[in-house]
Amino acid sequence: MPTAQQPIGVFDSGVGGLSVLQALRAELPHERFVYLADSGNAPYGERGDAFVAARTHTITDYLLQHHHIKALVVACNTATAAAIHEARARHPTLPVVGVEPALKPAVAASKTKRIGVIGTRGTLTSAKFAKLLTSLHGQAEFIVQPCDGLAHAIERSTVLAIPKAPAATETLALCARYTGTMGGFGSQPGEIDTLVLGCTHYVFVQDELRRLLGPAVQLIATGQPVARHTRRLLQAADMLALDSDTLDPACAITLLTTGMLAPLQNAARRWLQLPAQCCASMDLPTQGINPVE
Ligand code: DGL
Repeated sequence: MPTAQQPIGVFDSGVGGLSVLQALRAELPHERFVYLADSGNAPYGERGDAFVAARTHTITDYLLQHHHIKALVVACNTATAAAIHEARARHPTLPVVGVEPALKPAVAASKTKRIGVIGTRGTLTSAKFAKLLTSLHGQAEFIVQPCDGLAHAIERSTVLAIPKAPAATETLALCARYTGTMGGFGSQPGEIDTLVLGCTHYVFVQDELRRLLGPAVQLIATGQPVARHTRRLLQAADMLALDSDTLDPACAITLLTTGMLAPLQNAARRWLQLPAQCCASMDLPTQGINPVE
């Protein structure tokens, strides 16, 4: 039986899920976390469901066997769409939380009822996303844009210890290209006034998006609702860590990567103010699946 002192496992194709970990830490300050960035296999978004599902199961098994996690947060829209049902079926007693593009909060927030949605091709062409769109039929118009290459560019942006000025980045150019095809943004009737960030990586290009779209456009991410849902699940299972006395802050968070160590360390320092010592790299092959060529 898991105990409240065991860590919560969190994973993503790479560093994007750190945006969800940020929200989890704020909501659950007494918890321990083990985060796995599958950067050696990122991006997931253009790789197909079978690959993403195989990685999801390999990572879940690893986190259970080696870190004895008490709950799992799939901090990746693409993996949630491809594999969360199967992950829950394989581990019926493990609380598993996923992320999906926050369309319902966007409908509530939008005044023009024209809502942009950006995400990976895997997420936005999935049956799960189609079902979500159908459930909101008639409530707003959704302009859906897959952003091939954007998550990968965000991964690459962490290779440098000091980030480049936004004006000189590949991520800004990709954000401009994709939002440029979606129609007018703004708060006037007929304009897109709300943009859903349907990929956890995209939280880290919020500044670029704000620059391009202007202050009137609301950006909707999923970190906070996911963190609140995780708290509720743990509470219901009586597995919430409440006592901070036993928590040594130095080992409260472990960050692992299947890719190169330095980019994870850069991302951890830049976005979560965590020291390099929290990070380690590891190999985690999946049988029958080739690593990224
Ligand atoms: N961060 C992930 C998501 O939310 C995946 C990005 C990718 O690897 O393509 O979908």
